[in-house]
Amino acid sequence: MPSSSVNEATVENTSEKLSDCHISCNGSHDDFVEDDVLEDDRPQRPPRCVGKCIMQLGEVTQHNIMQLKKINQAVFPVSYNDKFYKEVVSAGELAKLAYFNDIIVGGVCCRIENKDGHKKLYIMTLGTLAAYRRFGIGTLMLDHVIYLCHKDPTIESVYLHVQTNNESALDFYKKFGFQVVGTAEKYYKRIEPDDAFILEKPMNVNL
Ligand SMILES: CC(C)(COP(=O)(O)OP(=O)(O)OC[C@H]1O[C@@H](n2cnc3c(N)ncnc32)[C@H](O)[C@@H]1OP(=O)(O)O)[C@@H](O)C(=O)NCCC(=O)NCCS
Repeated sequence: MPSSSVNEATVENTSEKLSDCHISCNGSHDDFVEDDVLEDDRPQRPPRCVGKCIMQLGEVTQHNIMQLKKINQAVFPVSYNDKFYKEVVSAGELAKLAYFNDIIVGGVCCRIENKDGHKKLYIMTLGTLAAYRRFGIGTLMLDHVIYLCHKDPTIESVYLHVQTNNESALDFYKKFGFQVVGTAEKYYKRIEPDDAFILEKPMNVNL
């Protein structure tokens, strides 16, 4: 069981539902990315559920940080280094693990940025294991991110980078009101395409 949860959702039987998503990618600052490009070629099996399945978020701690690392290794084609995980473990509410029943199937890691007097929340990674996609796990994690933004009215927007061919992530974020506000050319090293779209959603606009 997760050590704590901030959000919870219950879904009815979703057995045999398979994602059509490919392993996709996201990037972060070079400081956090290791050189090796990873591929996930392990067989993926759909979850099998009887009755109700519980999806919830739990804390990232020093005791489960390696599980977050495993999730990210399976979901993203870039490898995040020890510095990344050292910062994540002390990020508090900005990092969460996603559980499907008692299984860790996703993770989200964010940071707060202050640039030129503008405070933004940046999503470094947000991913669900391929076999558990389209069950609402990504929504649960993104809802948490939006909740954090609402809690801090000085946050002006939430943004992230998405590889330009990552159709599933683009569809996912657009569904929640994110818009492409720019392109970061050659954002990624050693993966193609190496360009990223910058997706952003304004927050707290009335404040
Ligand atoms: C993008 C990602 C996080 C979505 O996670 P998820 O757990 O499948 O998300 P959800 O089940 O909550 O999807 C919510 C909605 O997003 C949209 N969506 C998600 N994946 C989609 C896809 N492959 N094609 C079209 N729409 C999609 C749908 O509208 C979906 O609702 P629906 O299933 O009722 O139609 C997941 O595909 C993933 O981990 N990708 C790899 C990592 C990545 O690219 N992360 C994004 C950059 S940080």
